[in-house]
Amino acid sequence: MPMSFPLYALPEEHQMLRETVRALADEKIAPRAAEADETGEFPWDVYKALVAADLQAIHVPEEYGGAGGDALAAVIVIEEVARACASSSLIPAVNKLGTVPLLLSASEELKQRYLAPVARGEAMFSYALSEAEAGSDAASMKTRAVADGDHYVLNGAKMWITNAGVSEYYTVMAVTEPGAGARGISAFVVEKSDEGVSFGPKEKKLGIKGSPTRQVILEDVRIPASRMIGAPGTGFKTALATLDHTRVTIAAQALGIAQGALDYAIGYVKERKQFGKAIADFQGVQFMLADMAMKLEAARQLTYAAAAKSELAMHGEPQADLTFFSSAAKCAASDAAMEITTDAVQLLGGYGYTSDYPVERMMRDAKITQIYEGTNQIQRMVMARQLLK
Ligand code: CAA
Ligand code: FAD
Repeated sequence: MPMSFPLYALPEEHQMLRETVRALADEKIAPRAAEADETGEFPWDVYKALVAADLQAIHVPEEYGGAGGDALAAVIVIEEVARACASSSLIPAVNKLGTVPLLLSASEELKQRYLAPVARGEAMFSYALSEAEAGSDAASMKTRAVADGDHYVLNGAKMWITNAGVSEYYTVMAVTEPGAGARGISAFVVEKSDEGVSFGPKEKKLGIKGSPTRQVILEDVRIPASRMIGAPGTGFKTALATLDHTRVTIAAQALGIAQGALDYAIGYVKERKQFGKAIADFQGVQFMLADMAMKLEAARQLTYAAAAKSELAMHGEPQADLTFFSSAAKCAASDAAMEITTDAVQLLGGYGYTSDYPVERMMRDAKITQIYEGTNQIQRMVMARQLLK
């Protein structure tokens, strides 16, 4: 019987991209992962290797000097880098997070000015929404931007900002109309070199230690009004619309971490002998592996479906269910990653619990994917709102 539709498969160019990134990750990123975790130093050599391969921000469109990779390409890059080193995968992920607000809402002038350096690998871009007292309830932020002639003056402190200090540019959400709630928030581009910008100490974290997380402190930072992204009062919508696209990239990070742990565990159980045979011969072990792979593949399919919707939405095609799909993908993939990495540690027994093996790092790295870009409770709230509206 003739097939009425092609079997689902990744396009060939995406498969080739995966092979390229995996080779680079195996050669240049995996050997650096344990050290980045131990020292907490940002892996500049990994950044340079990603830039040399044009992978640090593959999503930037060609008209701004980028590689013009689609959402699925960005997912594959992040997934494959995360398989080797979760901290390093935040380079392409946060470059995307910081710049999507511009792609969605900024003037052509801002896009030309700020996207090209990211595409060339001369600058990284972070995203500053959260504050110490405004995490899940992001709209309750206090950072203020006050108009002053043709400038705005920003004051406040953004907390938990990934790659703060190593990024040159920051998308900063701030209140321009107090009392107007989410409609009183605007988005701006702030530069590291702007007078009055400083950074808090590096947070001491459970995982992703090679990616700095710091406060971005804004003290009378005076910037031209032309650095506002979109119209006054649209910053919160831009911030949430951005997360609709980038929660897919956190799902990708979770997939990569989980794949790294599964691959390692499979290799280990074939080698490790107890009771006179490889532990892979025990059905109890086999069933664990089967469950791990099943959860991973289910999350991967959901993530790729979300990426397809993200790509269409980025090009103006209405994708009413992107909000649902991106939250679902992030939630499913991060929960799967936590379970899979925990099981990988279990499969390595006592050895898995030591830093002589990579799976304990992967388990620690997986945890953050359930927390950032909105906790998984918030993802469930977002999904439920979509279902009930
Ligand atoms: N796209 C565009 N606009 C949206 C939207 C979306 N997906 N969802 C809501 N909006 C609009 C609403 O329509 C509303 O606008 P109007 O008033 O004009 O109708 C406005 O935004 C406010 O919406 P809500 O009333 O629904 O907002 P809320 O205050 O109830 O909050 C929330 C909603 C889902 C809880 C949101 O605050 C949220 O996502 N919180 C989690 C924060 C988060 O994810 N932070 C991530 C920080 S980045 C990070 O963590 C980076 C990293 O790890 C690397
Ligand atoms: P809270 O909002 O205080 O939540 C505490 C607990 O309460 C959570 O379990 C939460 O799910 C639960 N909760 C809250 N509200 C509800 C509700 N309505 N229903 C049910 N449960 C609820 N932010 C940025 O802007 N940019 C970044 O680059 C960035 N990078 C980060 C990197 C790291 C390593 C970390 C730890 C955080 C980062 N964040 C970043 C912030 C991150 O997005 C927030 O930590 C996250 O959104 C949760 O906010 P919170 O920490 O204030 O927790």
